[in-house]
Amino acid sequence: MTNYNRIQNPRGTLDVLPEDQYYWDLVRSSAEKIAQQFGHQRIDTPVFEATNLFSRTVGEGTDIVEKEMYTFNDRGDESLTLRPEGTAPVSRAYIQHGMHSMPQPVRLYYVTPIFRYERPQSGRFRQHWQFGVEAIGDASALIDAEVIHLLWSFLVSLGLTDIKLFINSIGDSQCRPTYLDELKSYYSKYQEEICGDCKIRLQKNPLRLLDCKQPRCQSIKTDAPNMIDHLCEECDEHFGSVRQLLEMWSIPYEIDTNLVRGLDYYTKTVFEIHPQHTGSQTALGAGGRYDGLIEQIGGANTPGVGFGSGIERIIMNLKQQNIDLKNNSSDKLSLYIAHIGDTSQEVSLRLLGSLRNLGIKVNTSSKSRSLKAQLRSANTMGVTHSLILGPDEIQNKQIKILEMGSGEESKIQIDQVETYFSAKESPKT
Ligand code: HAM
Repeated sequence: MTNYNRIQNPRGTLDVLPEDQYYWDLVRSSAEKIAQQFGHQRIDTPVFEATNLFSRTVGEGTDIVEKEMYTFNDRGDESLTLRPEGTAPVSRAYIQHGMHSMPQPVRLYYVTPIFRYERPQSGRFRQHWQFGVEAIGDASALIDAEVIHLLWSFLVSLGLTDIKLFINSIGDSQCRPTYLDELKSYYSKYQEEICGDCKIRLQKNPLRLLDCKQPRCQSIKTDAPNMIDHLCEECDEHFGSVRQLLEMWSIPYEIDTNLVRGLDYYTKTVFEIHPQHTGSQTALGAGGRYDGLIEQIGGANTPGVGFGSGIERIIMNLKQQNIDLKNNSSDKLSLYIAHIGDTSQEVSLRLLGSLRNLGIKVNTSSKSRSLKAQLRSANTMGVTHSLILGPDEIQNKQIKILEMGSGEESKIQIDQVETYFSAKESPKT
């Protein structure tokens, strides 16, 4: 026999099987509902963009741009990249479609696949889906707090209450350069002790020194100068107002002075929400302010703030925490027609067509099988009712209705089936 190699899904990707779809439906629909409640409108951008959109904004020295982008030249020799994050594309669309002339801030959201060539591990995929939110065109602390509130409410509405919000401020172009000089001169004293990655960070991207997880760098990091002690007056006030609003809205937070994020475009407020029961690399959602990004890609000086939240991770956490999401699909009317004998199969096919024309969810067996086997299929499909048609029913022009939940049986005339179920499908209020 020929031995064909079985083709598997690419490493770091996920098949979402039918049994998991209701988690996805629920998370997606909660995301959309809450985004709209906070006044955000949906935006969809292409899956790929010009490569320099990301290298200019996310940053040349970041892991994303250096190691993780899916970049290719198309047949016209243009360098394109599968979207490794959602903020730069939305900002590009903001400029391109003249959204600066709309009332500001322009509040947008997306639910979209993101591609990063990362080392696959639990909760870290090469294709993941992000629910993201951006509010562009307003520099006030109120918008930062609103966006954090939105992410917090989204996770809580799903039942994820065991979560923790971390916030920090990484300053702006006024105060950060002086701080970075101080950070560099502090770390320069430990050139010999720090890990290899930190040696590179010290040269290329010193803020990322604070993100190091290597045990040998921890005590050095603990004593490093903090950005929030070096904020200029404006950034300090901004951070204070964000915190005040979070307190006013009863959103608990912790300041993490080492929170710096892995993308270069951030200014002022940055934040992450983590589940409390697991280790670090597990943010369920994260974001911050990016006041320089739009200018970097050719727009006017325009502030922005937003977050991204990984849907796979949220679903993993819902499952880990045994949060029982009700499978609403089983509450909705759905039918299975079981038939015994040729005549009843013919009648069942006629009913199948007419019920479907009425918009009712209905299925049947394509071939003759035992009643037991057909009811087993009905069970697996999770239908609300099975309709049973056998020789007796055909003779009496009746059909047996089995309510799957209660096991109750009843009979109605075959020619009443459509009326009976269309009344059930749209009950009068
Ligand atoms: P990010 O922190 O890179 O930020 O990603 C946002 C969220 O996406 C993470 O908190 C996590 O939930 C999820 N995520 C990231 N990478 C993976 C992965 N490999 N596998 C599974 N989930 C993942 C951004 O992307 C920014 N664009 C967020 C933002 C929007 N900032 C301002 N506006």
